[in-house]
Amino acid sequence: MNNWLEKDLAHNWHPYTQMSTLRDNPPLLIERAEGIKICDSSGRWYYDTISSWWCNIHGHGHPKLKKAITGQLEKLDHTLFAGFTHKPAIELAERLAGIAPSGLSRIFYSDNGSTAVEVALKMSLQYWRNGGRPEKNGFIALDRAYHGDTVGCMSVSGDGPFVQAFTPLMFPARKIPTPYCYRCPLGLENDKCNTACAKLLEDTLREHAATTAAIILEPLLMGAGGMIIYPADYLAQAARLARGFDVHLILDEVATGFGRTGTMFACEQAKVSPDFLCLSKGLTGGIMPLAATMTTQNVFDAFCGPLGSDKTFYHGHTYTANPIGCSTALASLDIFEEEKTLDHVQVLSERLTRAINDFSEHPLVGDARVIGTVAALELVGDKAAKTPLAAHDAIRGIYRRGLDLNLILRPLANVIYLFLPLCTTLDELDDIIDRTKMALKRS
Ligand SMILES: Cc1ncc(COP(=O)(O)O)c(C=O)c1O
Repeated sequence: MNNWLEKDLAHNWHPYTQMSTLRDNPPLLIERAEGIKICDSSGRWYYDTISSWWCNIHGHGHPKLKKAITGQLEKLDHTLFAGFTHKPAIELAERLAGIAPSGLSRIFYSDNGSTAVEVALKMSLQYWRNGGRPEKNGFIALDRAYHGDTVGCMSVSGDGPFVQAFTPLMFPARKIPTPYCYRCPLGLENDKCNTACAKLLEDTLREHAATTAAIILEPLLMGAGGMIIYPADYLAQAARLARGFDVHLILDEVATGFGRTGTMFACEQAKVSPDFLCLSKGLTGGIMPLAATMTTQNVFDAFCGPLGSDKTFYHGHTYTANPIGCSTALASLDIFEEEKTLDHVQVLSERLTRAINDFSEHPLVGDARVIGTVAALELVGDKAAKTPLAAHDAIRGIYRRGLDLNLILRPLANVIYLFLPLCTTLDELDDIIDRTKMALKRS
């Protein structure tokens, strides 16, 4: 083990990592990145098939993003955002309001996906309190959801190893079955089901709407829950139900925002405009920490009152609206226009869909699914029974072979996936698919 890794093990504590195993499986020491490739200290490169944790959009080292960072650094690096403001935050708020689904004219900045969600939960709760309905303080979420690692986010996420140790801290939220077509909660065939699972949400709302502040959903693609893709119709029905039962709809587009599912925001595909839209990851093209919680004028108005009013939203973070982050986000939005990124995603997604269908024949692949630049292969021990593949060695083996083949196939339980930067070329995609086939070949 080289000196850098020795020092890493001596001091760093890596996320989601059993640190005692790192001596045998040391982390890759990454030194450079360009386009969709990252390179380690030995000069070995890898396709960034995980978009550097689902955030990279335009590739690494994009000249326009670099220029935005250095240019902003020359003018203003950071300042507080209470009682002070700055042009990059103003311009970005205006741009986001212009591209978001209609009605989302108010932007509250923070710095990561969890805080974007936490802010939405707190705002929703306080909205009802400010309006004299404090009993509306519950949340409804999907049982395989993942919304982040802060206490509020964990409370509205599904059960599992991520939250197990922290349950005494968490508030109860109502979890309803996930619209997981491959494992339909109602046991129906998905081409004939008429999205019957939305009825489960309706039943819960009928009983509990009076004490519910909001429903929270990851629209169309549920990332950490296993890259579950569900129909736009479910989202459209959920939005109608939320409206009808007078509860907020919070859409967590931390992973899906900024073109990942084929449209700028996934909710556009269901023609839905939520009460809260949570954004982070791809907001800056995936290279600076920044987040935004967007909401409506109606929500905003409920927080207005005289100086010192208890209607005020008492929440904030040191790096809220960091000017360098905001300038990078503005440059990223420019790239979307200049490089016609969303048009390219359509072409890429069609090719990815065709390629992924070939994997269905593989004896271990129970389900192969694609949305935008995300493709998932759900591995099973028995195709007919859909038993999740429990052979951890086999899954680790695919991950390791992936690395040997310059791919990052980091598994989510029994699901392996590609989460490609939006700028991936068709040639790069073909090469990634060929290598993925090789990684799966010996399984
Ligand atoms: C849908 C979703 N929401 C929230 C988060 C949390 O974001 P962060 O890790 O930036 O706190 C994630 C992270 O993967 C996510 O996928």
